[in-house]
Amino acid sequence: NVPLAPLTTLGVGGPARWFAEIHSVEALRELLRWRGEQSLELFVLGGGSNLVVADAGFAGLVLKIALRGIAFGSYGGRTIATVAAGEPWDGFVAACADRGLAGVECLSGIPGSAGAAPIQNIGAYGQEVAETIVAVDVVDVTTGAQRRLSKSECGFSYRDSMFKREAKGRFIVTAVSFALRDDGMPAVRYPELARELERRGAGDATLAGVRSAVIAIRAAKAMVIDPEVADSRSAGSFFMNPVIEASELSHLEARVGNHAGVEKAAAMPRYHAGEGRVKLPAAWLIEAAGFSKGEARGAARISSRHALALVNGGGATAEDVATLAREIRDRIESLFGVRLVPEPVFVGFSL
Ligand code: EPU
Repeated sequence: NVPLAPLTTLGVGGPARWFAEIHSVEALRELLRWRGEQSLELFVLGGGSNLVVADAGFAGLVLKIALRGIAFGSYGGRTIATVAAGEPWDGFVAACADRGLAGVECLSGIPGSAGAAPIQNIGAYGQEVAETIVAVDVVDVTTGAQRRLSKSECGFSYRDSMFKREAKGRFIVTAVSFALRDDGMPAVRYPELARELERRGAGDATLAGVRSAVIAIRAAKAMVIDPEVADSRSAGSFFMNPVIEASELSHLEARVGNHAGVEKAAAMPRYHAGEGRVKLPAAWLIEAAGFSKGEARGAARISSRHALALVNGGGATAEDVATLAREIRDRIESLFGVRLVPEPVFVGFSL
């Protein structure tokens, strides 16, 4: 009966019937055996920054992965960094930047643990972990066997991997290995990041400069967890950015135009998302549907800094947050014909 809300950034939800913090792979395998004997449902908790836990809690076993350690080695002209699953993600990014290692600098300021990074292929400001991951160490939940999965076995795509699809619930990540570049050249691909660096007069972008700029941009959106910042009590983006067929774009534009005006519809941002596909910013659609930043339903509200984050304004329940999320999803679907899919993981219930 361990309360889960304090272990999440959104801060909602009930207790775990059984709970254990895992500090070694051996302990993990032993608990998996015990859990098999008890026939308990299993949930694996990392940093709790992408979770919505049901008010009723979770009737099975929650394992908080607290494996720690980062190792750097040199292989074939690249640096391979292996980070244990329970390391805070941002500490790992900082350690790479300090060593002049490029490849994850745009992922600065992301909350959560390193082991969660491959699950949804975390990405931000023009980078995603699929670009640098070379291997993921896992334990098979049913057999307890340890395996090293190659990057291609992970089946990465936008906010997705086989860990969320065909292998859902099958593996627990214990460590992740990244191939990083020693040249120290940061990636500046995202226009908002380029603008921020320019504003700072950073002609020659450095890893430290990009890290600092990304953290500043995230903080301005309350996407850096800070107990002093009420709007950061969220699970980050609450919905994924929808990807549609390019052929559907004019139809969508017409529907947005009907509701929000033709000029607004023509200004809808859109990003190329592979052959014949277009990605749209969910935050923009939410505002185009008439929702405002800061708009509240009881103790749950839309962040006043970013329309895509839902915030626990203090004392919110999981149901408060879910009710607001359903209202947003359903209004956008009925107005624009696009169904938003939640981005965080739901424990014990679904949207
Ligand atoms: N926008 C609005 N209103 C807002 C905020 C944004 O209309 O309140 C529009 C703007 O047109 C803006 C566009 O949405 O240009 C995109 O906004 P932003 O650059 O903030 O990125 P995002 O698409 O909302 C995604 C990721 C974030 C990641 C950023 C930066 C998803 C679901 N979210 O957000 O990831 O940090 O890009 O790369 O892909 C997360 O996953 O939790 C997360 C925060």
